[in-house]
Parts: sequence; C-alpha cells; structure tokens
Amino acid sequence: MNETIRTIQNHRSIRSFLDKEVDDVIIDEILRAAQSMPNSINGQQSSVIVIKDKETKAKIAQLAGGQKWVEDAPVFLLFVLDFIKPVLRLRKTG
Ligand SMILES: Cc1cc2nc3c(=O)[nH]c(=O)nc-3n(C[C@H](O)[C@H](O)[C@H](O)COP(=O)(O)O)c2cc1C
Repeated sequence: MNETIRTIQNHRSIRSFLDKEVDDVIIDEILRAAQSMPNSINGQQSSVIVIKDKETKAKIAQLAGGQKWVEDAPVFLLFVLDFIKPVLRLRKTG
C-alpha cells in the first residue's frame, strides 16, 4: 500500500487542541497544499481565511451550531467556495 493511501486510511479527527500558537510557517505550508488541490477549469474557486482572533472564532463556533472546538482551536481556517469568481475573471480578461 502506498503512503498516501495509508495516511488517508489512518486518518482520525481530533477536536481537542493545545493552548499553543501554530507557527505561520506551518500555516503557509497548509495553504500552499490547499492551493495545489485539484479544481475545476483552473478556476481556483476556493479562498482560505486564516482566523486567530478569539472573538471571531467564538462567533463562528456559535453560527456553526455551537461547535466549541472551533473557538478552542488556536487557528481556524475558513474555506470559502466561490464558483462565480472564475466567471468574473474570464469576463474581465475577455
Ligand atoms: C460535508 C462535510 C461537512 C463537515 N462538517 C463538519 C463540521 O461542521 N464540523 C466539524 O468539526 N467537522 C466537519 N466535517 C469534518 C471535517 O472535514 C474534519 O474532518 C474535522 O473538522 C476534523 O479535522 P481533521 O479530520 O483534519 O482532524 C465535515 C466534513 C464533511 C465532508
């Protein structure tokens, strides 16, 4: 079995976080990996908002139906999918 398949099959979600900052180098690495994911018509439809502010995380946790772990995580990555973005870009460039 290759390493990628093994990693996927061994995946476990853990929603309990240490009260410890996540280094920006690690966050950049995750964002670069996200940018490398496949997408439709090279439209780059997803944007990622990096949220560290406790109050903002608390609001999102509440809006998501009381998901306390969103507030507790030292950093929360909000993925926004926008399928209109590539259409607007095409219109601009003709
Ligand atoms: C369609 C879909 C919706 C999801 N919604 C939530 C959610 O609302 N809250 C959550 O904690 N995980 C949700 N998950 C699971 C997350 O993708 C993820 O597994 C989890 O946040 C923990 O991250 P980790 O698996 O990288 O440890 C969802 C997954 C899918 C596929």
